[in-house]
Amino acid sequence: MERGRRIQAGMSGPGGVKGLGMLAWLETRRSRRVFEDEPVPKEVLERLVQAAITAPSNTNRQPWRFTVVTAEDKRKRIAAAVRARAEEIEAIIHRGHHAEDFASYGDFFHEPLESAAAIVVPQWRDYPDLIADLITSGGGDPSLYHTARSMQAELCSTSAAVMAMLLQAHAEGLGACWMAGPMIAKPEIEALLGIREPYRMVGAVAIGYPAGEAPPPGRKPIDRVVQWVEE
Ligand SMILES: Cc1cc2nc3c(=O)[nH]c(=O)nc-3n(C[C@H](O)[C@H](O)[C@H](O)COP(=O)(O)O)c2cc1C
Repeated sequence: MERGRRIQAGMSGPGGVKGLGMLAWLETRRSRRVFEDEPVPKEVLERLVQAAITAPSNTNRQPWRFTVVTAEDKRKRIAAAVRARAEEIEAIIHRGHHAEDFASYGDFFHEPLESAAAIVVPQWRDYPDLIADLITSGGGDPSLYHTARSMQAELCSTSAAVMAMLLQAHAEGLGACWMAGPMIAKPEIEALLGIREPYRMVGAVAIGYPAGEAPPPGRKPIDRVVQWVEE
C-alpha cells in the first residue's frame, strides 16, 4: 500500500490501535515516583524485559543488559547509597550560595527508589566501530567521518529499549520512573550488582504499582521542537 493510502486507513498498529488512539495513550504515560507496597509478579517483569528487547539497535547489536532487582535488602541498599551521595553533594552545595536551588532536587535522586517494588538497572556496552575500522584498514582517517561512535549508537539503542520498557510498564498498569539521579552512586550500585566493564549502567528505573496522582508536567508545543523541511 502506498504511503498516502496507508495514512488514510489509519493502520498503524496491532489489535486495532490506530494512530490517534496510540498518541492519546502515549500521552497518558507519566513518570511515577511513589508506589504501593505490592510486589510485581516476575512474569510481568519478564514482559518488561521482553518489551525492552524489541527496540531497534545499531546493526542489531542489542548492546543492552538489564539487572532486575526485587530483593528488598538490595533495593534498600541501592536507595541508601544514592541518598548518602545526595546528602554528600547537598553538604558541598550548602557551602556555596545555591543551597536553595538544590533543595528541590534532593528527592529527585532517590525518592522513586524508596518505594519501588523493583529497580531495573539498564546497562549498555560499546562495540568496535566497524565502519571506522574499515576506513582505518583502507589507510583512511576515521576521525574525518562521523561514524556510529559519534552518536554513541549503542547508548541510543539502549535508551530506545528503556523507552519500550516504560511503555510496557504503562500498559501493564505499572508506574515507572527512569532516573539519572542514581548515577551519583554508580560505583556502589555497580559493585553491589556485579556490573562491570564492558557494561555500564545507564541510570535506574524504579517500578511498581503507582500510588497517588501524577499531574502532567507539560510539553513544549511542537512548533518549538520541530523543523519542517518541505521544499
Ligand atoms: C534520562 C532521564 C533521566 C531522568 N532522571 C530522573 C531522576 O533522576 N529523578 C526523577 O525523579 N525523574 C527523572 N526523570 C523523569 C523526568 O523528570 C520526567 O520524564 C519529566 O519530568 C517528564 O515527565 P513525564 O515522564 O511524566 O512525562 C528522568 C527522565 C529521563 C528520560
